[in-house]
Amino acid sequence: MKAIVCPRWGEPDQVLEVRELPAPVCGPGQVRVRMLASPINPSDLFMVRGQYGYQPPLPCTPGFEGVGVVEEGRGILGWRVRGKRVAVLNAASGNWAEQVVIPARQAVPVPDSMNDEQAATFFVNPASAIVMTRHILSVPAGAYLLQTAAGSALGRMIIRLGKKHGFRTINVVRRREQVEELGRLGADAVVVFPEESIAARVMEITGGRRAASAIDAVGGEMGSACIEALAPGGRLLLYSSLSGQPLQIDPRALMTTGRSVEGFWLSQWVKRQNPLRMLGLFRQIKALMAEGIATTEIGATYGLDQIGDAVRHAGQPGRGGKVLLRMGSR
Ligand SMILES: NC(=O)c1ccc[n+]([C@@H]2O[C@H](COP(=O)([O-])OP(=O)(O)OC[C@H]3O[C@@H](n4cnc5c(N)ncnc54)[C@H](OP(=O)(O)O)[C@@H]3O)[C@@H](O)[C@H]2O)c1
Repeated sequence: MKAIVCPRWGEPDQVLEVRELPAPVCGPGQVRVRMLASPINPSDLFMVRGQYGYQPPLPCTPGFEGVGVVEEGRGILGWRVRGKRVAVLNAASGNWAEQVVIPARQAVPVPDSMNDEQAATFFVNPASAIVMTRHILSVPAGAYLLQTAAGSALGRMIIRLGKKHGFRTINVVRRREQVEELGRLGADAVVVFPEESIAARVMEITGGRRAASAIDAVGGEMGSACIEALAPGGRLLLYSSLSGQPLQIDPRALMTTGRSVEGFWLSQWVKRQNPLRMLGLFRQIKALMAEGIATTEIGATYGLDQIGDAVRHAGQPGRGGKVLLRMGSR
């Protein structure tokens, strides 16, 4: 089978190769999936650069999520999903290949009404958007949530979740072109940084109350500026470091105000959940996708042979929709 191989950590367009590999063998409790499509997410690119929270042994194949058809399944769970189209949740990575073997419990059947593009982006961003806003921060209706990288696939889901659940979003972006676009999606306010001061704009938008909670995927100056925009007792959740820069925190900005800064990583959160809770989350994602809330806009599709172009496109600033790798059709 054809697979993308990462022989060493480095810039994705320089290190990734297409190779012919033996098809993986399905063991007890596992399924073998014929892959149809897999997105190129920031986490995949971080991993290839050697900068992610989890690094598999080299050589490795990237790809943490995707969609495929189960061709072989062992054990009761594996037998139940045989022949089905499933979202392929692969915590070990390896989905950028024509075939992959994963634990059967990580193959989630998807309804026929969900197209391959949405099924390929079923888990990472929808689950993170739901868990951060509904489970961890439990943003109440009427409260303000401040978020950076608001034009990302995940940021857009959070704007739509805000509309559904009645919390208000203040959205920080780095390009003015996104102001109108995010407004159309339902953003309550959009702040362009560094052109505008985040703290000053949040004071103005909230009538001096500031934001009850914030989520930051950027770090550096943008993430640091969110702290001053938090209300007393407010919580900032850090979930990525897109700028590659550390936060600068004045201890007094937390000490005297009861504000706090925490980290969120979906893979750690998933490890703490029982199977019933996960089934509940899968159901919730399917319902939110059907409502058009947890959906992802796809910007371009490439074959495995075009991996260099695909990762260059995925890493471009101002890229637009998600870049998808296509390995086959149903
Ligand atoms: N912690 C977790 O468990 C978890 C789970 C899911 C996702 N994430 C993280 O969530 C983030 C969003 O994921 P996604 O798939 O939705 O991403 P995406 O659709 O690829 O979008 C990335 C966004 O980040 C913006 N961006 C990139 N570098 C930036 C910088 N230096 N300063 C400001 N903005 C910057 C881009 O802005 P432009 O449009 O201007 O280029 C773009 O809007 C990623 O960092 C991902 O790793 C974390």
